[in-house]
Amino acid sequence: MKLFDMKKTKLLACIVALTFVGFSCKEKAAEQPANTTTANSDGLALTPPMGWNSWNVFGKNINEQVIRETADAIVSSGLKDVGFEYVVIDDIWHGGRDSVTGQLYADSVKFPSGIKALADYVHSKGLKFGIYSDAGTLTCGDMPGSYGYEEKDAALFASWGVDFLKYDYCYCPDLPSTNNDYKMAIDRYKVMGNALKATGRPILYSICEWGPRSPWLWGKEVGGHMWRTSYDVADIWDMPRNESSPIGILTSIDVIANLGRFSGPGGWNDPDMLVIGLKNSGFIKGGGCTETEYRTQMNMWCMFSAPLMIGCDVRNMDTVTRSILLNKELIAINQDKLGKQGFRVFSKNGLEAWKKPLSGDRYAIALFNRGEEAKSMQVGWEELELDKAAQFNVKEIGDPAVKANSQTIAAKLAPHQSRVFVLDKAGK
Ligand code: GLA
Repeated sequence: MKLFDMKKTKLLACIVALTFVGFSCKEKAAEQPANTTTANSDGLALTPPMGWNSWNVFGKNINEQVIRETADAIVSSGLKDVGFEYVVIDDIWHGGRDSVTGQLYADSVKFPSGIKALADYVHSKGLKFGIYSDAGTLTCGDMPGSYGYEEKDAALFASWGVDFLKYDYCYCPDLPSTNNDYKMAIDRYKVMGNALKATGRPILYSICEWGPRSPWLWGKEVGGHMWRTSYDVADIWDMPRNESSPIGILTSIDVIANLGRFSGPGGWNDPDMLVIGLKNSGFIKGGGCTETEYRTQMNMWCMFSAPLMIGCDVRNMDTVTRSILLNKELIAINQDKLGKQGFRVFSKNGLEAWKKPLSGDRYAIALFNRGEEAKSMQVGWEELELDKAAQFNVKEIGDPAVKANSQTIAAKLAPHQSRVFVLDKAGK
């Protein structure tokens, strides 16, 4: 797709920017102010949205049976019980747009019972239903976009019982990154944001502009509840830095790293969907990741308060994939009501420490080895920008033991491994 050339240029610019801002040895926690934009008052997305999206595994090969079976599996696997609720059909569900009425319609071969019946089925399982459109004339998959039809499409989605709209940015004029370019994106997203509000139905609005026009600055203003911070994350740890999009898990981490101040209850930075469990079998290829790398994606997405949108075939998850996605302790960190995005407090020789303040005066700490050799790491409270005299009870995620009155955290880390700990003030 032409889109990839465009993304390539922007990705390079982004990487250059990161080189300057992203890798200081120590990023000052004190410089991470509270969330600066005002929350939407609609009560949606007060904690990071959780769900499943069809794109990573199925791409254009979706149909109502697959979506029904997915909803069934979300319930039977226990994913619903741990909080996964939105079932989102991504691109290429469309049949077309009626040339007389202007009404969008679904592909009747893929969805013979219609989208409303599918949404009803998903709702009957106690889940929520999401759909996809685009702010341009066409979607990224060359289906009809909503440009010029925003009110009509929003009303249609609401009448179908849609609870979530992912709104992409393909086929929008791509001017150089100037104020006009930003303004056009803001205007287009606002038109749909207003159209969704006008339906009177609570619809979570997921902005998918990929990051070049800094949607974290204006996402809430246009009614958004989450906004992509980077291009599509493929099923790969890292892409060569001069390659085009999509990107790998590592780049996505680096892009979101310094954007924490823009994320919080009601509006979240979105580093894209989870590739956990794809094992190079999905529509989004990349070569696959190791179990360690998939675990690190979950760890870091939870540290970031990132939306958790599963991308694998949940009807066929193996034991490892289940254990990663159903990890209640990690999900509790992701869903912590404080809604703070974790930030990097320490970085040296490829070893990093990340800190996420939690409610109840606790902290989640991730120790992370981004390098290619196994290493050991030890950090004290000072390095974590905590009161150095404080004593914490330390519990590692996945380990029932609690180390009382600790003053350091130590971990052996394989390449690309991360380990997450929760610190609770001793004797509080
Ligand atoms: C863009 C988005 C993806 C997916 C595809 C669908 O690339 O970033 O997440 O929605 O479009 O065509």
